[in-house]
Amino acid sequence: MNHRAWMRSQGFTSEVFDGRPVIGIATTWSELAPCNVHLHRVAESVKRGVWQAGGFPLEFPAMALGETLLRPTAMLYRNLLAMEAEELMRANPLDGVVLLSGCDKTTPGLLMAASSVGLPAVMVTGGPMLNGKYQGTDVGSGTAVWRWEEDLLAGRMTEQECAFAEGCMARSNGHCMTMGTASTMASMAEALGMQLPYSATWPAVDARRYETAQRAGQVIVDLVENDVTPDKIMTRAAFENAIRVNAAIGGSTNAVIHLLAIAGRLGVPLSLDDFDTLIRDVPTLVNLQPSGKFLMEDFCYAGGLPAVMRELGGLLHTGALTVTRKTVGENVGDAPCWNRDVIMPLDQPFQAAGTGTAVLRGNLAPDGAVIKQSAASPHLLKHRGRALVFDSPEAYHQVAADQDLEVDEDTVLVIRYCGPKGYPGMPETANVPLPAKLLKRGVRDMVRICDGRMSGTAYGTVVLHVAPEAAAGGPLALVRTGDWITLDVPARTLTLDVPDDELATRRAAWTPPPRLATRGWTWLYTEHVQQANTGCDLDFLTGASGSQVGRDSH
Ligand code: FES
Repeated sequence: MNHRAWMRSQGFTSEVFDGRPVIGIATTWSELAPCNVHLHRVAESVKRGVWQAGGFPLEFPAMALGETLLRPTAMLYRNLLAMEAEELMRANPLDGVVLLSGCDKTTPGLLMAASSVGLPAVMVTGGPMLNGKYQGTDVGSGTAVWRWEEDLLAGRMTEQECAFAEGCMARSNGHCMTMGTASTMASMAEALGMQLPYSATWPAVDARRYETAQRAGQVIVDLVENDVTPDKIMTRAAFENAIRVNAAIGGSTNAVIHLLAIAGRLGVPLSLDDFDTLIRDVPTLVNLQPSGKFLMEDFCYAGGLPAVMRELGGLLHTGALTVTRKTVGENVGDAPCWNRDVIMPLDQPFQAAGTGTAVLRGNLAPDGAVIKQSAASPHLLKHRGRALVFDSPEAYHQVAADQDLEVDEDTVLVIRYCGPKGYPGMPETANVPLPAKLLKRGVRDMVRICDGRMSGTAYGTVVLHVAPEAAAGGPLALVRTGDWITLDVPARTLTLDVPDDELATRRAAWTPPPRLATRGWTWLYTEHVQQANTGCDLDFLTGASGSQVGRDSH
């Protein structure tokens, strides 16, 4: 009576207590997260579908992580969202959940939570913004910012032009409309089988986004009635599909970290090396920024993710189960492609097989590092240069405009102490703009190495996720300006050309950086966060807890 009486304060009729499935709708809506600000309306569509199918929908807020405003980086809080959502799903009397996400970290955060809880779950991402439009051309969110920043530094763009361009990029509700991290993770959720076909690509303002959300409301009731839990969908085969789809769409390197973390929650064996070996025979099919030309709206009209998955055909596990309770093969078998300039055929791909994310190892990254080959300059994939070392991106930015900076196009920029413990939160600082001196000479790329991440909307020859990070005592901490570094992507190596005995001497003299926090979330995070090569989850959050909390006292 207690439970029912208080719920009836919201005006529900008594039939909602007749034993029908209670469906939680976790929404990461917030005015501080512009990419997710329309999720309230998406939730209304989900509710319609739940009611239609005979369920009882209840919307609840989960931490909204807005990539553009959160300091020092939204990634610091991905695990906090995952922990909060997990406990809300466990502590409330829910039978199933619909996960509403959009901005970069909200999708993996909610998938991690649902994986640990194990209730039936369906994801509905919020969809990309409409294409940006500036001076008669399409501009991609994020990607254009990096370019305009360099154009401003190089004197190719004025402050006034920049201010005007600012209003031309984000024209509607939705997340970034390049194949950045948000679009990538939405695609990963669909490739994993956790959201409905086409759900990743409908623009946020498209009526079909809301139609799909309503359908998701029906689907979650069906999954509850048939006890289809996330572990039955997100199997090793599903992760292999996601990794291969990520290569085909030219997706973000952030998918590596997030997929490893989700797999860790489910106990699915997945390693950093899987991201290299599984994609060697997968070409990039989708011509989207930042690696290519088009944007998510074009991708949607060209046929969306199902068209890509159909094209990949035998490269995928087509028997993998999805939230439709059909297989991948059944979902995408007839998916049409309407524009071969955007989604290219397997035998005439946008980029050849093996040009996706590569995993590097060597004495500079014993536990691995990654590079997005499709966003790099081919002539720099084999490169030897002298290091120019900075202990923070801020230290680099202070001198980036200095015309006397001792740097040339062969220099290897090392930006360190940007890892999960070091910054903290592993920010997207790896793709620092080139020194103004080089930009003015027309240089557009150089090798950069960092223990941080790179925005999925960015490009350049940037070695990322170096593990162990400098703050954890990784060899990156021992590099000195003037050292020779060899990058050999075809051989998958990253080498600091310094003798072992010299490195041992430097290690003996190295002291760890001071603690960044002595209390609160940042302390908890830096004490327990794991390295990039295993997904940056907290050590005590990996694995599952189930949907029950303690003893049922009521
Ligand atoms: Fe939210 Fe790019 S800033 S998706």
